[in-house]
Formats: sequence, structure tokens, C-alpha cells
Amino acid sequence: MGKIYVITSGKGGVGKTTTAVNLAAALNKFKEDVTIVDTNLTTPNIGLYFGAPIVPINLNHVLQGKAEIEEAIYEHESGIKIIPSSLSLKDLQDTKDKSVKDIIKELKEVSEHIILDSSAGLGEETRVALEAADEIIIVTNPNILSVTDSLKAVKLAEEMKKPVKGLILTRVKDDSTEMPIENIREMLEIPLLGIIPEDKSVGESLVKKNAVVHTKPKSRAARSYMDIAAKMLGKKRRQESLVDRFLSVVGLR
Ligand SMILES: Nc1ncnc2c1ncn2[C@@H]1O[C@H](COP(=O)(O)OP(=O)(O)O)[C@@H](O)[C@H]1O
Ligand SMILES: [Mg+2]
Repeated sequence: MGKIYVITSGKGGVGKTTTAVNLAAALNKFKEDVTIVDTNLTTPNIGLYFGAPIVPINLNHVLQGKAEIEEAIYEHESGIKIIPSSLSLKDLQDTKDKSVKDIIKELKEVSEHIILDSSAGLGEETRVALEAADEIIIVTNPNILSVTDSLKAVKLAEEMKKPVKGLILTRVKDDSTEMPIENIREMLEIPLLGIIPEDKSVGESLVKKNAVVHTKPKSRAARSYMDIAAKMLGKKRRQESLVDRFLSVVGLR
């Protein structure tokens, strides 16, 4: 039986989709079976990140009872299963037989890890995703606006009685304008799953339409995502070698 993780933040543009894509790819690199679902209906972009083709059957058909969820899965060359979305909010109405939540939950029969990328804000789209969640992962940037919005996401999760697995702090530049990690931890009071540095390899991977863990596996961002995946699976990761460390410090990785 699989587990459903929802990636959320409260705020747009913080790195949710990047995190959903790379966590999925990183877990898949550990030979785990992963499905990624785009529940970002108004501005879906998982398809863009993976260069997914237009699929004949999507979540829409499933919600209308015209297809089974398995038929809406597209397999990326890396082995990740993707359910792109081209839905509008009105498609999110529960059908008379099944709720949207139940349909998403059917994926637990198909995959070990189901990652739901959610939209910006904490509106209806995000709530539908959160309802299906077994665990919630919060993505935040180290600034007060992003952290404040994440706090709202944490509170919403509490209200909905959904466990928060933890925080991924991303686009970290380590400069003096950023909010110190200790303050962020104090404000959010959730476990820190990992830190992803600001890394130009992430933008490059978007152009190549693949996850950075595939396009530049030795980049700092890729290694940080692999570390988080390893942690989620309870696996140990190889220590960074001095050469790797040197190359990343001088900006060659
Ligand atoms: N670690 C990172 N380093 C550099 N750029 C990043 C990083 N993470 C995300 N980005 C960039 O930030 C932008 C927003 O990321 P995205 O994942 O689409 O955010 P969201 O889904 O929260 O709106 C994208 O252009 C993406 O390439
Ligand atoms: Mg997004």
C-alpha cells in the first residue's frame, strides 16, 4: 500500500514543483515506484518539467468516470509515473460514485510513493490535494513572506488533522539577507527534512525537461534532493568527497 505526500507551501514560486519532480526522481533512483500527480489545476506544470506529451486520457476522464486511474498514467523514460492534469476547478466536483479524494487514493494500489504537486495558495485546489494526503511536505524559502505563508499551510494541515512530515528549505543562498534557519524552525515547529541551495543547475534542468537529479546528478541541488529521498527511505548516503566539496565550492558543480 502506497503513501500519498502532498507538496505545499502557501506561496507560489518557492520551488514546490521543482521539489515534487526531484523528490519523485530521487526516490525513483533508489528503485522505488513513484507516481507524481499534478493537482495544480489552474497552472499545471509537471508536464512542462518532464516534457510529457499530451496524453489521450487524463485525470479529467477519470473524474468523469470515463476511465480508470491506471489509464491516465504516463511513464516517463526515467521510470517515474506521471499523471498530468488539464483540469479546471469545476472538474473537481465529486462525482456521485466517488470523491476526488477516493480517486487519488486509488493510486496507493499502483505505487509505493505518490507525490502530489499542489498549486499556489491554500484555496480549493490545494485543499482537495490535502484531503487525499497521508503526509504533507512544506516547501519554504528563507524569507519572512514565504515562512509566514508556510505557517498558514502548517495550521491548515493541523485543522485538517493531516500529519506534516517536515520542511524542505529551498533556494538557500546563505547570505545575510536570509532568515536564519533556527528562526524558521522556531516559527514553523516542524522537522527539517533538508536544505536545497540556490543552484543554476535547476534552471538548466528545466530547459532539458528532466529532473536535476538526472541532468546534473553531482550538482549541489541534486545531491541535496538525493539526501532527502535517502532520509525518507531510511537509507544512508555516501559522504561527500573532498573533491566533490572543492568543485561545488568553486562553483564547478
Ligand atoms: N534550488 C533552486 N535553485 C535555483 N532555482 C530554483 C531552485 N528551485 C526552484 N528554482 C526555480 O524557481 C522557479 C520556481 O520554481 P517552481 O518549482 O516552479 O515553484 P512553485 O511550484 O512553488 O511555483 C523556477 O524557475 C525554478 O527553476
Ligand atoms: Mg508549481
